Amino acid sequence: MINIAILVSGNGTNLQAIIDAIDTKIINDAQISIIISNNKNAYALQRAKNIKSKFISSKDSHILLQTLLQNNIDLIVLAGYLPILPSDIILKYENKIINIHPSLIPSFCGKGFYGEKVHEAVLKAGVKITGATTHFVDCTVDTGKIIMQKAVEVYDNDTVETLKKRVLAVEHEILVKSIIFFCEKCKK
Ligand code: GRF
Repeated sequence: MINIAILVSGNGTNLQAIIDAIDTKIINDAQISIIISNNKNAYALQRAKNIKSKFISSKDSHILLQTLLQNNIDLIVLAGYLPILPSDIILKYENKIINIHPSLIPSFCGKGFYGEKVHEAVLKAGVKITGATTHFVDCTVDTGKIIMQKAVEVYDNDTVETLKKRVLAVEHEILVKSIIFFCEKCKK
């Protein structure tokens, strides 16, 4: 059984997609051991229900590492987690940290490109295709090995809200599939 730690900062719809995938056995050989947020007020923590959850300030990276080790975590999923992970954790969990990004990396990513800012930049650039990407996390922002991508068409009358909604649905899909891919890889 793969022990997953899910790190969140906000609404938690990606977290909810993983919870639902586990509940419906779409993901059947992994469990969420802990949900960690750097934001006490993150709605994502309300979604935890009967799953262990913990607030850890982004300043307390030693507590974060200790918590991951204590929970025998095999896979860390950054589901809208805003802080940059400290390199000691990234190196310790090399190729075991998955991030979801709301664009087709390497477009519209890197420092300052997060959440709605990504969709604003996409609309401003006038591109016709955007999408979502999952990737392994390395020591620079949004540059690790890409796991999965899926395209989303940009409509002429799109707003940040309408585009974000369609991209978010694709994020949920590829994040769940990326976790399944990781679990399959662990079995080999
Ligand atoms: C998503 O757009 C994700 O791609 C980005 O942050 C947002 C988190 O959304 N990293 P949610 O908290 O999972 O709803």
